Amino acid sequence: MTEPTDPAAEPNLNITLVPLTAAFASVASALHEQGFEDPWDTDAIIRLLDVPGAFGLLAFAPGDLAANRDDIPLGFVMVQAVLDEAEINTIVVAKEARKSGIARKMLSAVFERLRENDVGRLLLEVAEDNAPAIGLYRHLGFDEIGRRKNYYRRKSGRMVDALVMERALGNCVLGWGA
Ligand SMILES: CC(C)(COP(=O)(O)OP(=O)(O)OC[C@H]1O[C@@H](n2cnc3c(N)ncnc32)[C@H](O)[C@@H]1OP(=O)(O)O)[C@@H](O)C(=O)NCCC(=O)NCCS
Repeated sequence: MTEPTDPAAEPNLNITLVPLTAAFASVASALHEQGFEDPWDTDAIIRLLDVPGAFGLLAFAPGDLAANRDDIPLGFVMVQAVLDEAEINTIVVAKEARKSGIARKMLSAVFERLRENDVGRLLLEVAEDNAPAIGLYRHLGFDEIGRRKNYYRRKSGRMVDALVMERALGNCVLGWGA
C-alpha cells in the first residue's frame, strides 16, 4: 500500500475496510496529517493499537493492476473499548475523499463490531468548532451530553471547548449497519 494520493482523480472507487494493524500505522499517520494540527506519528498509532480493547479500521480503494493503480488509503478510525463502553479515539478521511460516505461507512462497521462484543455505548469528544465532524456525529445519531471547557489549544493559542457526545448501540434506528 502506498502513501495517500489523490482519490478524486480516480472515479468510482470501491471502498474496502480492513483491520488497522501496526503494519499500516505509517499509512494512518500520513492520513492523520490531513486532518489535525497535531497529527499522530507512526509510533503513537502503534502504541494506541497495543492498548487492550483498542482496534482500528482502515478504508482504502483497492489498486488495479491493469490500470497500473496502487491501493489508495482513504481514511481510518481508532476505537478504545472498556467493558460495555467504547470511545472513538480518532477518525479521519483523506481530504479529497471527504463527503462521499467514507466516515459513515467506517463508523457503521465500528457500531457493528461493538454490538457483536456487547458494547452498549459509544462516546467521543469533538471540538465545538469542527462543523464537519459534529455534522457527521449528529447524522449518525450521537447526542451531546456534556462540554469540556477550553479542552483544545489551537496552534494560534486559541482555546476551544470539546463537546462530549454519546450514541447508544442497542438498536439500529437509521437503517445502516447490522
Ligand atoms: C469529519 C470527517 C471524518 C467526515 O468524513 P467524511 O467521509 O467526509 O464524512 P461522510 O461523507 O461519511 O459524511 C456523512 C455525514 O456527515 C455529515 N458531514 C460530513 N461532512 C460534513 C461537512 N463538511 N459539513 C456538515 N456535515 C458534514 C453529513 O451529514 C454527511 O451526510 P451527507 O453526505 O448525507 O450530507 C472528515 O471531515 C475529516 O476527516 N475531518 C478532519 C478530521 C476530523 O475532524 N476528525 C474528527 C475529529 S472529532
